[in-house]
Formats: sequence, structure tokens, C-alpha cells
Amino acid sequence: MTQFTVHPAQITTPEMRASALTDPGFGATFSDHMALVDWTAELGWHGHRIVGYGPFELDPASAVLHYAQEAFEGLKAYAHSDGSIWRFRAEVNADRFQRSCRRLGLPELPVEDFLASIDQLVTLERDWVPTGQEQSLYLRPFMFARSPILAVKPSTQVTYAVIASPSGAYFGGTGVQPVDIWFTRDYTRAAPGGTGFAKCGGNYAASMVAQLEAEAAGCSQVGFLDAVEHRFVEELGGMNLFVVTADDRVITPALTDTILEGVTRSAILKLAAASGLTIEERRITLDELFDGIDTGRFTEVFACGTAAIITPVGMLKDADGGHVVGDGSPGGTTLRLRQQLTDIQYGRVEDVHGWTTRI
Ligand code: COI
Repeated sequence: MTQFTVHPAQITTPEMRASALTDPGFGATFSDHMALVDWTAELGWHGHRIVGYGPFELDPASAVLHYAQEAFEGLKAYAHSDGSIWRFRAEVNADRFQRSCRRLGLPELPVEDFLASIDQLVTLERDWVPTGQEQSLYLRPFMFARSPILAVKPSTQVTYAVIASPSGAYFGGTGVQPVDIWFTRDYTRAAPGGTGFAKCGGNYAASMVAQLEAEAAGCSQVGFLDAVEHRFVEELGGMNLFVVTADDRVITPALTDTILEGVTRSAILKLAAASGLTIEERRITLDELFDGIDTGRFTEVFACGTAAIITPVGMLKDADGGHVVGDGSPGGTTLRLRQQLTDIQYGRVEDVHGWTTRI
């Protein structure tokens, strides 16, 4: 296994760490260390190390600052009740990271190095894994281009890093609270042939103005339609979308090169099929979605992602008005799938799918 050399770092006192872990929010607090690996066209991957968490020294001409040549991942480490720490489907993140990097003209990090960076960082930071209800250590692997050159061409110098953030619910609050989704007609997220399937900062940068639009409309997430016909539901600003029907079907937009293949999305598809629901991965128009909700054929809608887990959707809205899903409260199938997923992640049931690995 690839070994990361651990460098001395300033360590947070147990008292300060305990206070940081009490109510961490999402992605706002960081552990003491980060993992780093460098890549150059001449040397390939080298310098696998774990150092103190802190600012990077970056040349102002670094390619990432001008042309956004970067990709990232999101996964979590979970504390089980016996004190052991586990990761969930990290191999799937490692594969997706390679696909994203390939699309961005970045070098592909070997899966073994990806997994070693996660395992060795989490082992060192095990005291940073929170143990509160639905808390976890959110891990953010990312890779960015640092060649100091303004010519538009793939960087020959790259850094891979992993930072770790003790985290609670993405949308804040306690318990499972529904969120409202704003479907924008003004902006699209990704076009065919573009970077929509890749997890890269540019996709999220393109969503920010639409997220502002959603917030102005009183919603906490933005939903995007396809870029060609502007009719088909694709995904949300930072998560995938599912619909549950009155006759026990589960619908989610079929994967295309404009949709991110969510790790939580594919786990939910397996759990839903195993519990007897009929899966429909297909195109679904916003009109069909609104109509299904208004006529009671679509009884539940939920968002999902590593950060969001499974978050019920209370209302979908566009410029013509809102459509309340059911009575606006979390639906039974949504809550059941959520329970099944988190029971596996937190080790409360046997992991028959082989999704979890002890760190
Ligand atoms: C995740 O769910 O891990 C994401 O990457 C979504 C968002 C926080 C960017």
C-alpha cells in the first residue's frame, strides 16, 4: 500500500476539538492535517505526505485560478457505536475521480493512492470523527492545476489534496426537514459534450447565480433542466433527484453526460429495488413532475448526495408557482430508504452489499 509520510503539525487541544465537534454544521471546520501528492509531467505522482492543514502557496498565474482546471470528490468516514471508523464505497469515488480528471485534462490518480490517502488521513484524524446523531467526517479529495502559465493548455504541474471536515446535516437544523427546490428557466448547468458528468468546480461555479435565484424565491436548492430542450429534469445544484409514485415506482433522471453519477444515487437504486420498488431511470419533464405532484400520482420527492444523504423535498417551484409534494412533510418511502442507507453507513445493520470498509 502507498505510504504517506507524516510531517509534524500543530494539534488542536482536546477541549477546542470537543467544542468544534459539538455542532459542526457542514464543511466549516477542518481537522489538523491534510494529505498531499504532487504530480509533474516529468516525475508522475510523487511526494505522498500528510502535513498540517493550512494555506497553499500558489503562484498567481496557477492555471486553476484562471481556467478552473480542477476536480473533486466528496465522501464520509462514519463512527460506529463500538468506536470503529468506516468508509462507504470509497472505491466508487476513486473511479469517478479518475473519470472527472480525464475529462478535465488532469492526470488520473491511481485508485490505490486515493484509498491510501483517505485511510491514512482518517487514521491520523480519528479523534475528529464526530459521534453525534448523523454526524460524520466529510472528506474532500481534490486536484488542481498549478502550472504558472496563462496559455490555455493542460497543466504539467498538479497537486492532489484531501482535507477533512467534521460535519452534521448539509441543510442545518435537527431531524429530517424537507427543503424546497426552485427550478430555474434562466440558467442551465451542463450541455451535451461538456463537463456535467464530471465532479469539477466549474459545474458548481455555473450553478451559483441560479442558487442565488433559488434563495431569492425562498428555496434552499436550485434544480436544472436540460440544456437542449429545456424540458427535462436533470439534477440539483449539489445533489440528484428522485420521485416516488403512488404505485410504488421510483423515478430518477437517467444518466447522461450532463448528469453526475451520484454514489448515493446508485446505492438508493439498489436499496429501492431490494425493497420491491420498481425502478425507472428515464427522462422526466418538469411538466410531468409538476402534473404528477398536483394529481397525487407522485407522492414523494427527495434529493440525495453524500452531503445531503436523503433529504425530502416539500415543494417544487418555478416562476409560475409552487407544487407542494403530498402534504409537504417527509414521505414514508423516503424515510424508509434513508433509514436503510444510514443504518448501513453507521453499522446498525449488516452490510450485505459490501459497501463499507473499516479504516
Ligand atoms: C457531496 O454530496 O459530497 C457533494 O459534493 C455535494 C456538494 C457539497 C458539492
